Amino acid sequence: MRKNQFIGFAFVSVCLWALVTYYLFLDRPLNHKPDQQKQIQIQEHLSLLELKLNEQFLDGEKLLQQLRNIVKEQQLSVRVNEAGAEGRGVGEEQQLEKQQGEKEDEQVNRMRSLAEEVLPDGGPVIAVLVFACNRITVNKCIDQLLKYRPARERFPIIVSQDCGHRPTADVIELYGDEITRIEQPDQSDIPVPPKEKKFKGYFKIARHYGWALNYTFFKFNFDTVIIVEDDLDIAPDFFEYFLGTYPILKRDPTLWCVSAWNDNGKAGLVDENAPDLLYRTDFFPGLGWMLTKSVWAELAPKWPSSYWDDWVRQPEQRRNRACIRPEISRTRTFGKIGVSNGHFYEKHLKYIKLNEKFVPFTQKNLTYLLKDDFDRFVM
Ligand SMILES: *[C@@H]1O[C@H](CO)[C@@H](O)[C@H](O)[C@H]1NC(C)=O
Ligand SMILES: *[C@@H]1O[C@H](CO)[C@@H](O)[C@H](O)[C@H]1NC(C)=O
Repeated sequence: MRKNQFIGFAFVSVCLWALVTYYLFLDRPLNHKPDQQKQIQIQEHLSLLELKLNEQFLDGEKLLQQLRNIVKEQQLSVRVNEAGAEGRGVGEEQQLEKQQGEKEDEQVNRMRSLAEEVLPDGGPVIAVLVFACNRITVNKCIDQLLKYRPARERFPIIVSQDCGHRPTADVIELYGDEITRIEQPDQSDIPVPPKEKKFKGYFKIARHYGWALNYTFFKFNFDTVIIVEDDLDIAPDFFEYFLGTYPILKRDPTLWCVSAWNDNGKAGLVDENAPDLLYRTDFFPGLGWMLTKSVWAELAPKWPSSYWDDWVRQPEQRRNRACIRPEISRTRTFGKIGVSNGHFYEKHLKYIKLNEKFVPFTQKNLTYLLKDDFDRFVM
């Protein structure tokens, strides 16, 4: 029995020794201090990660909720519209029309008071009329106008839209009351002679011009308007150029427009050292041009149904009058896709140089542009 007891004791001792050894040398790491720090660091990283994940999850949830709300709203408005279209009484329709009319009247009143405002320096108020149709890049043009416009009360910006293109209207409406949006109401089809079917765009443009210029001059009552198309880049001194030439245009009845465009203004052909040089020209350049109410009153009743710029250049309209134009253009067209030929853009319009140097035209003596002086000036 003693032998068995001894074996038992020895066995337990060996087990104990093994346990103690294991605990001392294996299980308990020798350099446990830095490891503990590492563990703490990992713990911290993990909780940070968890926090971030949670945040992202919440953001995602929020976004999802917003999207759900938008969808719900749209469904609701569609339903309301459908219900309205089905069940709206005559009275309600009249109410809507009345509201629309009131909104329009309010706009007309606001623009009239802008047009007739007497500015502190006695200088003119000149409306800028932008023609837009279905190019959402119209924002590029509006952004530049807003960037270079020296004063909003001097140059109220009106964007006239044709074509009923909703995405373009949305872009224009983003500008809020920085600009005024008007819309050509007649979207009916225009009967075009079969031979001219592919030029229908030109008929629509002429209709849009006739309507919008009437609206701006006769309804809003502006006395002078700068006409811009939605695909134009403008130079930093665009507004300064028109403001400086305005008194000359008003004073000289042998002038009928000021244009920002030199039709031969390609880089290499213009005198790049003469950004302040201006001319009189018998050719109507268009592409960013200023017109007075008296000239519009003369053109409006006989305004053509298409190809308005060719028509304007005819002797019956021009009546020997000239336009002022710069040596270096103050506009450049960036639009390739449109009614006019993309080929013409690639070959010609693309190379027109846009002026970069600001010229203080309002402080310059521009009387050399008056007819008699100019005739002497170019002799
Ligand atoms: C513009 O106004 C003139 C003069 O009132 C008028 O004869 C002409 O028909 C109008 N044009 C358009 C397109 O409304
Ligand atoms: C402007 O220039 C013309 C010559 O083109 C000169 O006769 C006239 O006196 C000048 N006016 C002023 C205010 O300097």
